[in-house]
Amino acid sequence: MPQALRIGLLGCGTVGTGVAKILSEKAQELTRITGRPLTLCRVVVRDVTKLRDSVIPVNLITGDPTTLFSEPLDVVVEVAGGIGPIRDIVIKCLESGRDLITANKALLAEWGSEIFEQARKHGRAIGFEAAVAGGIPIIRAISEGMVANRITAILGILNGTSNYILTRMADDGLTYSEALVEAQKMGYAEANPSLDVDGTDAAHKLAILAHLAFGVQPPLESIPRRGINNLDAVDICFASELGYTIKLLAESWNRNGKLAMHVSPVLLKKQAPMAQVRGAYNAVALVGDAVEDTLYYGKGAGMLPTASSIVANLVDIASSRERMVQQSRLLWPKGKNNGPPILPDTDLKSRFYLRLLVPDRPGIMAEVAGILATFKISIASVIQHESTSSPPNRVQMVIMTHEAFASDFRLAVAEIDRRAFAIFPVTHYPVAD
Ligand code: NAP
Ligand code: HSE
Repeated sequence: MPQALRIGLLGCGTVGTGVAKILSEKAQELTRITGRPLTLCRVVVRDVTKLRDSVIPVNLITGDPTTLFSEPLDVVVEVAGGIGPIRDIVIKCLESGRDLITANKALLAEWGSEIFEQARKHGRAIGFEAAVAGGIPIIRAISEGMVANRITAILGILNGTSNYILTRMADDGLTYSEALVEAQKMGYAEANPSLDVDGTDAAHKLAILAHLAFGVQPPLESIPRRGINNLDAVDICFASELGYTIKLLAESWNRNGKLAMHVSPVLLKKQAPMAQVRGAYNAVALVGDAVEDTLYYGKGAGMLPTASSIVANLVDIASSRERMVQQSRLLWPKGKNNGPPILPDTDLKSRFYLRLLVPDRPGIMAEVAGILATFKISIASVIQHESTSSPPNRVQMVIMTHEAFASDFRLAVAEIDRRAFAIFPVTHYPVAD
């Protein structure tokens, strides 16, 4: 029998359990494909007393991470999450001659160059298919399938938790908090779910895709990001009335040699392909100069979809390790940012949705239109229903603009917010047509 690939698991929660299940249930098929058994040899967790799925052999469980670099293992699968102590453990694993597979986008987006530097130094391979878009093989699509292309644009729904919450609010009338609790129960959310809903997780994933596609290593702070955590159900209703749905989009595109990047809730026409992506599904549209438009769709979070990508990387290491080592050598070079400069988001142009709560009295609409006109922003449509408010005599005014520079739009919003009629700050989102 050829030598087994000896696997250590760092973390055994939602994703780690999924990896153990697939390795156990598909052991024969995987051995047939790779020509050697994929054997789970060690499982490191934080709390050894916690009840685990019966697929996890009890004798493999330990709370001691040093076993991952002291025992005979070929590869460590990091599915613990977080950065601090985990970064030190994975670096020690690479130093001690283990290959690494990780689903941890925060770790790669923020410490990619240090981790890949260690991999280069020690001739190790790193697989990270599960770090972006869960079960969709998007890393392979960019680094192999689209290798003949210069990629010009990436547009993605990259956070399953946010997309699940938006879908349940829009389709089933759940409150934001009810939908978030469901997403956590399903195992989609991060241990700290604020990373999902404030746009950070999608920005981490966008940073990874932008590195593969454009060669940049953008610091997280350089990616403008907003999440869905302040989204009001009333905006979902108004968007629907206007023929739109709201999605958390992560976008990056090359415009005249500069790179635009942002994560934001965006109004999308209901008929748009991205608007059809529901629940914990993700979708990524990539544009290449040779192939033109491509679209990838699948479960972006959850136990087995994510484990599917991890096991694909394990198969890569078991059967074509040298190719993976070679690929890993080229990624996140230290101190080099080979891509185009990042465009300030104020230079971006878009249509905008804005909603104001204002007193129901003469002249307000004219004043708002006047401010927008001052900043060269043209109104495309307006909704104002008769007041049913409590306290009375307040109305919601919703405006869709024509295309405008974000810089002008922000100045206009700041001016509206300064006026005495503004009861609350303006709510606003970009619109994609
Ligand atoms: P999870 O359910 O919270 O599981 C985390 C596991 O890691 C737990 O078993 C925990 O131990 C262990 N752990 C945490 N810190 C540790 C430490 N310092 N030392 C040892 N063990 C530690 O998380 P998850 O949802 O599986 O996610 C894991 C990783 O995959 C994260 O990076 C996440 O971003 C990524 N990811 C998740 C999904 C998804 O759908 N869930 C999808 C793609 C990527 P205890 O069990 O003892 O607490
Ligand atoms: N918390 C992440 C999400 C998991 O909801 O998309 C997948 O990376």
